[in-house]
Amino acid sequence: MYRANEKRYDTMPYRRSGRSGLMLPALSLGMWHNFGSVDVYKNSKSMLEYAFDKGITHFDLANNYGPEPGSAESVLGRVMKDSLSPYRDELIISTKAGYGMWPGPYGDLGSKKYLVASLDQSLKRMGLDYVDIFYHHRPDPDTPLEETMLTLDLLVKQGKALYVGISNYDAEQTKDAVAILREMKTPFVIHQFRYNMMDRWSEKALLPVLENEGIGGIAFSPLEQGLLTERYIDGIPKDSRMAREHFLTSERLTEDYLKSIKVLQQVAYGRGQSVAQMALAWLLKDPRVTSVLIGASSTHQLEDSLKTLDYLSFSDEELKLLDQLFS
Ligand SMILES: NC(=O)c1ccc[n+]([C@@H]2O[C@H](COP(=O)([O-])OP(=O)(O)OC[C@H]3O[C@@H](n4cnc5c(N)ncnc54)[C@H](OP(=O)(O)O)[C@@H]3O)[C@@H](O)[C@H]2O)c1
Repeated sequence: MYRANEKRYDTMPYRRSGRSGLMLPALSLGMWHNFGSVDVYKNSKSMLEYAFDKGITHFDLANNYGPEPGSAESVLGRVMKDSLSPYRDELIISTKAGYGMWPGPYGDLGSKKYLVASLDQSLKRMGLDYVDIFYHHRPDPDTPLEETMLTLDLLVKQGKALYVGISNYDAEQTKDAVAILREMKTPFVIHQFRYNMMDRWSEKALLPVLENEGIGGIAFSPLEQGLLTERYIDGIPKDSRMAREHFLTSERLTEDYLKSIKVLQQVAYGRGQSVAQMALAWLLKDPRVTSVLIGASSTHQLEDSLKTLDYLSFSDEELKLLDQLFS
């Protein structure tokens, strides 16, 4: 029988999400890959328990995570039942809706009809009464933003979500969302966006908006799905995301990429870190990044990534070199 590690809060830093009351672990665990019905349940369960034992109190999901879509939420529900439910009040569980989930006009994008039905389905799959954070997963160009934001507010008022967030909205869309949600006093506390050393689109406009508005930021795909690690230095391992999934293709393994990963390796080793650890530390140096949302396929990877927390600072020379590498 699982019993949580008594020292689980000893090493993980918790960071405030913007100007809200919500604290998140510096590293959170995402369940996009490796937690579906096609994956080995025992491994998924071990990763969740291992993460919680190390103070990773936040698990991130979406209605469509799997495969098959929805099955990551079912796996979370099963793990809650098997071991983690006594710790529900120590966990922040988020889910989202916004991408295509079921056929027809009511299973995609940002209508009230879709979001209300989707969260009900998610709660059922996870066996939960409420989620801690419910996100609109991506902007919908056709549904009025008021409708989507009013729905987020409704779900909080119904007690199905404690806090709300948005994901993949640009800076202007975020300002518009803030204006609507602030008027209703909806607890809009977090924005989830892609951010890593290779993909810095958020720096120019989005991060300043989050800072001004007091909204937390959680960075997804911090390792660029594995490219910001040493995983592909000698080819494509059979058990890797690139070999198993279509989201990461071998076209990304260019000469330039392989050259830059070797430079990263040199810098990281000079700091006594792996490339993955340095890539995660690089994100955590920015206080606007409340949490870094990692993925993993094994507890071994989680163990490696958690060592990031041992050394978070950078010299000016290191930062300059890393800036040049991907500019
Ligand atoms: N809101 C959105 O639209 C959106 C989009 C994407 C992701 N997300 C969220 O962000 C989470 C993380 O995204 P992600 O999985 O792309 O994150 P990531 O951390 O960039 O990539 C995770 C992958 O990197 C490899 N890896 C992890 N730790 C490693 C280590 N220490 N050493 C070597 N390789 C390592 C593993 O690949 P292998 O599987 O090959 O072992 C792992 O599956 C998702 O689960 C989801 O919750 C949100």
